[in-house]
Amino acid sequence: MAAAAYAMDPQRGEQVMREQNCLTCHNVRGEGALKAPDLSARLVDRYTPAALASLLWNHLPEMWTAMSKELVGRPRPSERDAEDMFAYLYAEHFLNPAGTQARGERAFEQRGCAACHSAGPGNPVENWRGIRDPFALVQQMWNHAGLMRASREQRGVVFERLSARDLADLTAFASRTAKQAPSTMPETAQGASLFKANCGGCHPGIVNLQKRLQDRTPLEVASGLWNHANSMQTLALGAPNDMRSIVGYVWNLQFQESGDAVRGAKTFADKKCAGCHAQMNRGERVFSTYSMISLWWAHGPLMQADMQKKKARWPYLAPEDVANLVAYMNTKP
Ligand code: HEC
Ligand code: HEC
Ligand code: HEC
Ligand code: HEC
Repeated sequence: MAAAAYAMDPQRGEQVMREQNCLTCHNVRGEGALKAPDLSARLVDRYTPAALASLLWNHLPEMWTAMSKELVGRPRPSERDAEDMFAYLYAEHFLNPAGTQARGERAFEQRGCAACHSAGPGNPVENWRGIRDPFALVQQMWNHAGLMRASREQRGVVFERLSARDLADLTAFASRTAKQAPSTMPETAQGASLFKANCGGCHPGIVNLQKRLQDRTPLEVASGLWNHANSMQTLALGAPNDMRSIVGYVWNLQFQESGDAVRGAKTFADKKCAGCHAQMNRGERVFSTYSMISLWWAHGPLMQADMQKKKARWPYLAPEDVANLVAYMNTKP
């Protein structure tokens, strides 16, 4: 479901957390109060939207209790707010640190770039244009992969694989005279059609990336992409942000809900959701993990009050329970 229809925006996510009063109790990056867990700590091992949703759900009753004590306005994040908060918390862990020039210069030598880009046939690094972020670097390399391969074959140069860190460092080195772009999430909006046109011939046919790319950061996706581009024919990407969009789309694949509706039905019964929600208008709206987060904030206190009245315990939901519930709620009865 919901491959983000707009760019996930971590900067906006930071703003949302401030506006939604999260920082009156929580601390993020040294800002905010210390009455609740520090949200810039790595909260879960696998950082996925479902994991964040599960954490939130399991802590909601305590949070509401804290809120009534603190007299804080109750947060009402929208679906989009939830998506941007996820992007922000994710970015906090996986997009920094940026590369350094010194390491980039070393990588330029050690990964063999200097062999062709100091004395030719490749352009000297001073003449590379527009490499303000690692995705732009990968795009340039992608567009020149054919030429690079040809000159490699002529000269018998071995091509080294690049890691995510190499990409960040090489970017810092290549753009040392320009102002580097801040490290942000790649946009996902345009990515689907670009991916289909450029990659669809082999994916998912030969390799199903959604299965393969678990726990990969955008930079790791980009380096994996370069490491195989280097041995195959590539079509040039035209617009400056194309690679960024493709990487964003591919990276986001791992978060698309892959819940199981049949198991979700069982969870819905086992966790006693069914006792209060006979039908839930299943299949009539599109639920996503993010819309669940939003709805829980909106309806949670009523749910909690109802549960207390019925002496029901707040059920524990694991990340896979959240994903399965979403799948179940998206299927028509
Ligand atoms: C009135 C205080 C308060 C506000 C406002 C608040 N929280 Fe919390 N939050 C808490 C408390 C207290 C806990 C710990 C609850 C527990 O231990 O079960 C918590 C736990 C959490 C956790 C789980 C953390 C962990 O380490 O397991 C997350 C995630 C979270 N809050 C996110 C948010 C977000 C996002 C917002 C804003 C939309 C928010 N909170 C607003 C008090 C608050
Ligand atoms: C075997 C030779 C060879 C090696 C090794 C090589 N390149 Fe290239 N590269 C080329 C050629 C040839 C071109 C196309 C001519 C040009 O535009 O520089 C090119 C083009 C590029 C471009 C586009 C430059 C521009 O002006 O837009 C970038 C960026 C680039 N290479 C980066 C790298 C990096 C980073 C490495 C090391 C990981 C590397 N190359 C290794 C031969 C090589
Ligand atoms: C000619 C077929 C082909 C095309 C076209 C192709 N790929 Fe691949 N791709 C593969 C194969 C084969 C692998 C597995 C390579 C391996 O195991 O090293 C792969 C692996 C990958 C990986 C995983 C690398 C890793 O680290 O595990 C990514 C990411 C990827 N492709 C993205 C793309 C994107 C994005 C495009 C389009 C811009 C694309 N591929 C186009 C054949 C292709
Ligand atoms: C004790 C009764 C009770 C239980 C158990 C319960 N809920 Fe609710 N739920 C409510 C109430 C009451 C509302 C608020 C309805 C309203 O605001 O109109 C609600 C609202 C919701 C909403 C928003 C509905 C909407 O139409 O926008 C979602 C989503 C939801 N619950 C999911 C769940 C899930 C998933 C479970 C099981 C883990 C669950 N609920 C268990 C009583 C319950």
